[in-house]
Amino acid sequence: MLALLQSVRGAPNQSVLESSGPLAGRVESLWWFAFITASLVYLATIGALLWATARARRRERRGEALPADDDRGMARGVALGVAATVVILLVFLVTDLSVGRTLDPIPRKQPLTIELTGKQWWWDVQYADTSPQGRLTTANEIHVPVGEPVLLLLESTDVIHSFWAPNLAGKKDLIPGYTQSMWFQADTAGDYRAQCAEFCGLQHAKMALHVIAEPRPQYDRWVQSQRAPAKTPTDSVTNRGREVFLTGQCAMCHNITGTVAGSRAGPDLTHLASRRTIAAGTLPNTRGALAGWIVDPQRVKPGTHMPPNQLAPADLDALLTYLQSLK
Ligand code: CUA
Repeated sequence: MLALLQSVRGAPNQSVLESSGPLAGRVESLWWFAFITASLVYLATIGALLWATARARRRERRGEALPADDDRGMARGVALGVAATVVILLVFLVTDLSVGRTLDPIPRKQPLTIELTGKQWWWDVQYADTSPQGRLTTANEIHVPVGEPVLLLLESTDVIHSFWAPNLAGKKDLIPGYTQSMWFQADTAGDYRAQCAEFCGLQHAKMALHVIAEPRPQYDRWVQSQRAPAKTPTDSVTNRGREVFLTGQCAMCHNITGTVAGSRAGPDLTHLASRRTIAAGTLPNTRGALAGWIVDPQRVKPGTHMPPNQLAPADLDALLTYLQSLK
């Protein structure tokens, strides 16, 4: 059934139980171990309760008195229950800690490094590189090659956020003024949804990030296209849209490489049209959704730092055409 749903939706569910990498696999095994153990304990408890009730009923029916050593029997039962609970909790503690330890060591081979900065309420993404030209900036979507370890360096510029792509790895907090690291690996190509997992204000729920795992050649093509500056428009409508962008409010917060817009307050828009969603996974990246978002962002995400934009219809139309040209 799950497989069927998956094939219909074309993307894996955001779930710990559909692990797609070595780290998530260990977390999933731990989950099943805890679930099965807890289920057995539950069944044993209910079984004991039913057995005791039935025994008491039987005695009552027969008019038997309680045996003289009943208190001692009960004390032994309680002691056994407490001992079993302590042992089970200890086993949980040990397995939990040992799984935690196996998740931490970062693979020795220099892995692909992505700097992820949490902001209210979106994700700034920078691919590290030894040369400044090799660096790549995007937002709310990361692409990774299948079967290769990826190192994430996590930071925050405002409050505590948490990165959680349940299909790929466990959670890790993004703490202001402190760089945390974690790594993951995707073993199957797919679009994995990650969610901020630490309450960070009004739009915490609408702070998603898509991890797109793809084969190496496809990933390399993506990197090439993302490193390129935005194309200069060749037709008049797109050119007018560019003017609207550069002379209006947009340029005060957003960067488009290849233009004079260089602010880093909001998400980088150099290749906005190549992304699948806008507003940190809140809306599909369509012309209509983009229009609604630009005109009245507070309606979509109350509290967002993006201000409303009152534009003449023709200006809005040209702006949309320009933004959609940023492939
Ligand atoms: Cu960011 Cu919750």
